[in-house]
Amino acid sequence: MIRVVILGAGNVATHLSNAFLNTNKVDIIQLYSRKKSSLKHIDNQINTTTNLNDLKTADVYIIAITDDEIALFSSKLPLKNSLVVHTSGSLAMNKLHDKFRKGVFYPLQTFSKNKKIDFKSIPICIEAKNNDDLILLEKLASIISKNVYQINSKQRESLHVAAVFVNNFVNHLYHIGNKICMNHNVPFEILEPLIQETASKVLYLPPYEAQTGPAKRKDEKTIKNHLLLLTNNQQKIYTILTQSISTTYGEKL
Ligand SMILES: NC(=O)c1ccc[n+]([C@@H]2O[C@H](COP(=O)([O-])OP(=O)(O)OC[C@H]3O[C@@H](n4cnc5c(N)ncnc54)[C@H](OP(=O)(O)O)[C@@H]3O)[C@@H](O)[C@H]2O)c1
Repeated sequence: MIRVVILGAGNVATHLSNAFLNTNKVDIIQLYSRKKSSLKHIDNQINTTTNLNDLKTADVYIIAITDDEIALFSSKLPLKNSLVVHTSGSLAMNKLHDKFRKGVFYPLQTFSKNKKIDFKSIPICIEAKNNDDLILLEKLASIISKNVYQINSKQRESLHVAAVFVNNFVNHLYHIGNKICMNHNVPFEILEPLIQETASKVLYLPPYEAQTGPAKRKDEKTIKNHLLLLTNNQQKIYTILTQSISTTYGEKL
């Protein structure tokens, strides 16, 4: 049994604790949150605390809090020589405080508390300063996922920026598409099969080959007409992406 303490009660902490609860190989000894009110949705089988001085002994401490707070937070942990990992895609492992053994346990997926997710297919990127800890993290990750990768901090940073493009930016573009539909009284759901096909096509074709649309075809009249339908901010985004596609496929528009 691997004993785990989770620090944080947000999206990742919630999904990780649910995934560990569903196995009989991990014991969630405790979950810490700075506010009692943030613990409401945490499964009541889990022992919780709002006091860092009450932290129990565990094999792994997983910090799943806001990126910008991790370094300072880690310096406040009353632990020595324990294995402490964070779940961030962008933060280097060495930003954790030097007083303990360090590692990373980064699940590469988008998590929202209210959306269920199957952890088995989620890639977990692990890193540790020493080999025994790497073996332990590999064991822990393999209990909940089939896809475990050893990725160093530099590689993880690139992976994270790529993830921002393929997830966060794409989702923002869905939001813009949704707004345009709402403003013109057309149901967004008509676009759903297109959204699904766009995502599934790149599993079969490289994204470069999957590209279609007016920017790739150099349909200048269509592009001009589209720009007339958009707000200032939408025009800027449309123009940057159109130029990027056009440059990628050779000729300037
Ligand atoms: N969400 C994702 O899709 C995703 C995917 C992979 C990795 N990650 C990484 O996982 C980590 C957590 O992300 P998240 O999406 O779960 O965040 P989140 O839902 O916004 O939750 C953030 C948590 O951090 C706590 N927190 C913030 N500042 C704190 C401080 N100074 N001291 C103690 N606790 C503090 C918050 O506590 P309160 O409730 O008290 O405010 C909350 O429990 C981040 O490193 C993120 O990069 C996120």
